Amino acid sequence: MTYVVVENCIKCKYMDCVEVCPVDCFYEGANMLVIHPDECIDCGVCEPECPAEAIKPDTEPGLANWLALNAEYSQVWPNVTQKREPVAESKDFDGRPDKFKDFFSPEPGQGD
Ligand code: SF4
Ligand code: F3S
Repeated sequence: MTYVVVENCIKCKYMDCVEVCPVDCFYEGANMLVIHPDECIDCGVCEPECPAEAIKPDTEPGLANWLALNAEYSQVWPNVTQKREPVAESKDFDGRPDKFKDFFSPEPGQGD
């Protein structure tokens, strides 16, 4: 089992999650973060920290595509452990539909 970052992180990227992870298993893309499924110890402390409710346990149904995306991009994006100020438009994108289709980017973020 692992926790998974899902669609509503895209363009919100609040980054509260990285501050609490005891094993530093968040990785940063240009528009969202992902969790490395093999490094996550399933502690669950990040889930309630996300203002966008974008972190879910993989025991929830329907997350297979997101688990695959987390697994893929956590191998190529840089590790991130330090929160930066969220981008100005974070709140505007919170809850917006179709964010993956419209805004997902495979480009890496800056990392720590
Ligand atoms: Fe890190 Fe725990 Fe969240 Fe996994 S569940 S990503 S170990 S804080
Ligand atoms: Fe994304 Fe939530 Fe972390 S919006 S960056 S998963 S705090």
